[in-house]
Amino acid sequence: MRGFVPTPERVVDAMVAKLLSNSAPPEGSLILDPGCGSGAFVQGLVRWSRRHRVAVPRIVGIESDPKHIPEAIRAAEGLSSISILNEDFLKPRKE
Ligand SMILES: C[S@@+](CC[C@H](N)C(=O)[O-])C[C@H]1O[C@@H](n2cnc3c(N)ncnc32)[C@H](O)[C@@H]1O
Repeated sequence: MRGFVPTPERVVDAMVAKLLSNSAPPEGSLILDPGCGSGAFVQGLVRWSRRHRVAVPRIVGIESDPKHIPEAIRAAEGLSSISILNEDFLKPRKE
């Protein structure tokens, strides 16, 4: 198989459930999604938070390919706790 293949929703949901093991991330946590693509895991974290009736945690999704950015931004649903950056996550950042 060639090209971009986003992680299927059911796999994302299983991985997010394993990551969070049924408790919301501690307050102040920041979840990094390096190579977020079109936002499959961003969406998965939003789904998980809604299902568990907790606030969506702070998430930073970083994606180097600009063609995935609009969909990743849509996956963030305008939530202020989520940032989508069009950057190379391997490059040192200037803060
Ligand atoms: C296999 S896809 C996975 C996308 C998404 N995480 C998912 O599970 O659906 C890997 C993504 O990582 C991005 N990527 C690869 N190297 C990167 C880098 N150094 N910085 C940012 N994004 C990168 C690619 O452009 C691609 O969209």
